[in-house]
Amino acid sequence: MEKHWWKESVVYQIYPRSFNDSNGDGIGDLCGIIEKLDYLKTLGVDVIWLSPVYRSPNDDNGYDISDYQAIMDEFGTMEEWEKLLRQVHDRGMKLIMDLVVNHTSDEHPWFIESRKSKESPYRDYYIWRPGKNGREPNNWESAFSGSAWEYDPETDEYYLHLFSKKQPDLNWENEKVRNEIYEMMTWWLDKGIDGFRMDVINFISKVPELPDGEVQSGKKYASGHKYFMNGPKIHDYLKEMNERVLSKYDVMTVGEMPGVNVEEAKLYTASERKELNMVFTFEHMDLDAGPGGKWDLRPMKLTDLKQVINKWQKGLNGVGWNSLYLNNHDQPRMVSRFGDDKIYRVESAKMLATFLHFLQGTPYIYQGEEIGMTNVQFSSIDDYRDIETLNMYRERVIDGNEPHEKIMEAIYAKGRDNARTPMQWDDELNAGFTEGTPWIRVNPNYKEINVKKALEDSNSVFHYYRKIIQLRKTHPIIVYGDFQLLDEDNENIFAYMRTYRNEKLLILCNFTGQTVSYFLPDQSIFHIQERFIGNYKEVMIQKDRITLRPYEALVFKGM
Ligand code: NOJ
Repeated sequence: MEKHWWKESVVYQIYPRSFNDSNGDGIGDLCGIIEKLDYLKTLGVDVIWLSPVYRSPNDDNGYDISDYQAIMDEFGTMEEWEKLLRQVHDRGMKLIMDLVVNHTSDEHPWFIESRKSKESPYRDYYIWRPGKNGREPNNWESAFSGSAWEYDPETDEYYLHLFSKKQPDLNWENEKVRNEIYEMMTWWLDKGIDGFRMDVINFISKVPELPDGEVQSGKKYASGHKYFMNGPKIHDYLKEMNERVLSKYDVMTVGEMPGVNVEEAKLYTASERKELNMVFTFEHMDLDAGPGGKWDLRPMKLTDLKQVINKWQKGLNGVGWNSLYLNNHDQPRMVSRFGDDKIYRVESAKMLATFLHFLQGTPYIYQGEEIGMTNVQFSSIDDYRDIETLNMYRERVIDGNEPHEKIMEAIYAKGRDNARTPMQWDDELNAGFTEGTPWIRVNPNYKEINVKKALEDSNSVFHYYRKIIQLRKTHPIIVYGDFQLLDEDNENIFAYMRTYRNEKLLILCNFTGQTVSYFLPDQSIFHIQERFIGNYKEVMIQKDRITLRPYEALVFKGM
């Protein structure tokens, strides 16, 4: 298997708005990040992924960009960004930027020009169509509720927006658009960044006819997924991007790809194909959603998770590369979702970290995950800020007469603001995030859960993350070892093995709040030598039988 620095790295995602505010305006900023670089160095991460910091009217918190080559006013200046990059590099870490090029903001100069007239040289930078029978050009639904088309009276046509109406989709068929983007990417790479996380990058190629989707009963709009996810020219575009831009630098790339499967992921990540290094899959994130989509809650079955993980681990082994995540700025907090955020918060946060970081792939940590931050429940919808949540609430409760309580339950479980409450630094005012009024309320549990406390407690989630990150640096088996699932039908324990040269690791994770027994594999398959790491002090073992306490995680070294 090819060795690369980005396979051996651990990535830490910063959502700048919620990370650390240095000037008291209630919004996190670049100087705030600089103040915390030593903290990240202590944690031991190698790469920082910055969610968008470009100029933006913030309809979707920076994922709507109005100038790709300027910094958002609330976050600081280009000089401060350059200082951040220098300081990251001085500490031996790397920095990757978020590349949002499926769409821009409607306040981007290209779109402002584009909407002026059908003859504008920028018209074809976006996807414009006339209406059909007095309605939208097709029946696609936006990811943020309602139609994916917005009517513009100025020229009597509609433009496509797969996300909010302030996020018009770029037209990648237009070579000029692609050239502009490649130039912009080159400009950032020449500043010395170490790669890109690419926002919904598998949406950029649409089936040109933009056909109608199939409407589900009771719904007004349809999913257009099959006409824009992994579309007809996606590989051509990524190959072109690689050849023209990425191949000239030693950088890492990770493509966010809703709806990607293993077979497609191989095409995106196989090194000889020269597209991307890795992709973010959503298959494991969709296991607790019913047929109605993300807000349609259902419990996840551990055996389903095993099946998905096994498929990806085996499928990409030796071909491409996996990215490993349970959290990001779009997902609820993993400890509330897959663990227990009350009695066993610390144990379950460590168990989930063990489960994830010992798989084959590059692990991603989302800010606050390393101290076991949890979901939040605000009783009033007015305390929520996320456009996806607010649009859904309006559509279902205000316009649709569904009960407030039911929808709030869905928001408590899945809302993106769960991940976006301010980082909890200490037990002082606003969790030490800001001296002003935070743009979104702090999770009230900050007195209990915060960085200051975690640093002081040698048994904290933080120090556990530090250990597993360190182990990765000295044990190539964690990075490069083959994966083997054990006991696929066990609904309580996720057990797997890693093998590299003549070494083996056995990983056992109890996903329940109960004490459960586990029979070790036969000596011929795994012969225990020593305990490698675990989240309880001593091991409860009798002959070949191990007792795993609530959310216990154990890793053994063996042969
Ligand atoms: C995926 C991003 O992660 C999410 O936060 C954003 O809303 C959409 N793409 C649109 O850019």
